[in-house]
Amino acid sequence: MQDRSENAPLQQLDDWDNFVATRYRQDKSEEEFRNYKADANPTVTEFYRQNHAYQTLDFVLTKKAEYCGLNRDKKSIWEIAEYLNTLVDDSDPDTDLTQIEHLLQTAEAIRKDGHPRWFILAGFVHDLGKVLCLYGEPQWAVVGDTFPVGCGYSDQIVFPEFFAANPDSLVSDYQTENGIYEKNCGLDKVHLSFGHDEYIYQATRRYLPEEGQYMLRYHSFYPAHRHGAYRHLMNEQDERMFEWVRKFNQYDLYSKGRERPKTQEILPYYEDLVSEFFPSKIAW
Ligand SMILES: [Fe+2]
Ligand SMILES: [Fe+2]
Repeated sequence: MQDRSENAPLQQLDDWDNFVATRYRQDKSEEEFRNYKADANPTVTEFYRQNHAYQTLDFVLTKKAEYCGLNRDKKSIWEIAEYLNTLVDDSDPDTDLTQIEHLLQTAEAIRKDGHPRWFILAGFVHDLGKVLCLYGEPQWAVVGDTFPVGCGYSDQIVFPEFFAANPDSLVSDYQTENGIYEKNCGLDKVHLSFGHDEYIYQATRRYLPEEGQYMLRYHSFYPAHRHGAYRHLMNEQDERMFEWVRKFNQYDLYSKGRERPKTQEILPYYEDLVSEFFPSKIAW
C-alpha cells in the first residue's frame, strides 16, 4: 500500500487552487508571471510531477468509464455539498474556508455583479466534483490544471518538463499536434486529463444552460482559457463559449480572500436556487 504522503503530496486540496490564484495574481508583472515556479512550494511541485506523469490517455478513459456513467449514487446537491465538507485535511479552521464556504463565496461574488441565476448556480456547484477525493482518488486525479491527452503537450501547461515521465510521451501517435483527434474537431471529442471538472459537468449537464456547462467542464483548463493553447482542437462553438469560461474564471480565482460568507443568512437564497434547477436527487 502506498504511503499517504506519497499519494497525497498536497497538505490540502486547496493548496493547488491557492497556487493557481497566486500564479494569476492581478498585480503581477509579466516577469513575475513567467517565474511561476517561485510560487510553487515543494508539495505543489511534487503534485504536478505526479499529475503529469500519471494522467495518460488510458487512465482518462478508465476513469471516465468508472464515473461518467453516473451509476454510483443518487444524492441531492446538498448531500454532496455536506459530504464534500467532510474533506478535512491539515487546513486551519480559523483561516481556511470550508469547501462550502469557497462555493458560496464564488457564487456570492457572481450574484453581487448582477449575473443571471444559472451563472450564480454554476458558481455554487463548480467544485463539487472534488468528492472524487472522498471516493479514494489520488489528488493528481482530482485537481490540477487540465490538458488534452492523446495529442502533443502544449508548452503553455505548467511544469511541461514533467511530461517526460508520462508513458504517452513515448507513443508517437499521441505526440503530433492533433494526435488522435482531427483538426478543429471540437473539445467535446477531446479527452482532457481527468478531474473534478469533468465529473461535475457530467453530473449537472442536464440541468444547466450550455454556457454553465462549459464553465464547469473547463474551469481548470488554464492552458486554453488563459493562454490560448489548443485552439487547433476547438470549433466555433467552443470559441464562443470560452468567453463564458473566462468570465467565470475571474470569480473562481479572485473571490478568495474576501470576507467569510454569512452562511446562515444566505442559505435560504441558495436552497431556492438549487431547487429551481435541480430535482431533489440527481445521479452521481
Ligand atoms: Fe475547481
Ligand atoms: Fe474553485
